[in-house]
Amino acid sequence: MEKFKEFGFVNTKEMFKKAYNGKYAVPAFNFVCLEQMLAIVEACMETDSPFILQSSANVRKYIGSTMVQRMAQACVETMEQNGKKIPMALNLDHGMAFEECKSCVDSGFSSVMIDGSALPYKKNIELTSKVVEYAHKYDVSVEGELGVLSGVEDGVIHKESQYTDPALVEDFVKSTGVDSLAISIGTSHGVVKIKLKKGDPFPELRFDILGEIEKRLPYFPIVLHGASAIMPEYVDMINQYGGKIENAQGIPESQIIQATKTAVCKINIASDGYIAATAAVRKVLMENPAVIDPRKYLSAAREEMRSLYIRKIRDIFGSAGKA
Ligand code: 13P
Ligand code: ZN
Repeated sequence: MEKFKEFGFVNTKEMFKKAYNGKYAVPAFNFVCLEQMLAIVEACMETDSPFILQSSANVRKYIGSTMVQRMAQACVETMEQNGKKIPMALNLDHGMAFEECKSCVDSGFSSVMIDGSALPYKKNIELTSKVVEYAHKYDVSVEGELGVLSGVEDGVIHKESQYTDPALVEDFVKSTGVDSLAISIGTSHGVVKIKLKKGDPFPELRFDILGEIEKRLPYFPIVLHGASAIMPEYVDMINQYGGKIENAQGIPESQIIQATKTAVCKINIASDGYIAATAAVRKVLMENPAVIDPRKYLSAAREEMRSLYIRKIRDIFGSAGKA
């Protein structure tokens, strides 16, 4: 049996088919620490939502690849102990090299993203195909990317965004064999999605491009990265308690809801979790200067993230009750 199946993870095939037909999106939450992983699992248990737990390559270095793997396994066991059978995929987010993806497949990830979006088109196809060929031997799903998102993601910076060219998607999917495709339609990574003048509305995501892509790839799962809303209440709380975040601007949630009704089956959220956690920790530490037990502030972070994820699942992604 494939390693990831032994561990109780699922690949993304069935999840995406259901999400496509049901017109909702599966949440893909990034985690960087234990508290965040716990918040994700608790939120998904409470809402009965399928989910994708995402680790970047840098997080695998930070926590340790063995630890990431065992922690993810423990999530499945914990859900079972709570009488929950919830589909959970473990995904490598923004894999940049074949070896990185191979290492995840070998250690039991059920899904990997190979992000060749910054490469010339032919090189992207070459790299992505190589990963697909390897991953599919083990039934592991592969997400590819066409078009470039701007912003900062785990230390990787892209200054300019480049929308996905719908004319390329059919050829890319056919040539590589990917199971899902991340596209660029105006979202971006990090807390500053775009610099707006005060009072200017957030521009519409390019739903016209998404529509063109859907026409060319019927029933094919599309992935939206950089979809955090960067809630002003968290930014204000961070700034109020000694932080300094300038020009914060997220994607309006109404537009994310609109995206869930399309071929978009997976939506990535990292920054919203980070700012919720940071706001909570800052508040507890400022208000309780004598605190030394890390649980006092880490539990506040965990609780803030848990309630944020629950709200996203229920009100934005529409994946509650779809486990
Ligand atoms: P955000 O920075 O908008 O949360 O994007 C996360 C993401 O795309 C992870 O791959
Ligand atoms: Zn991303």
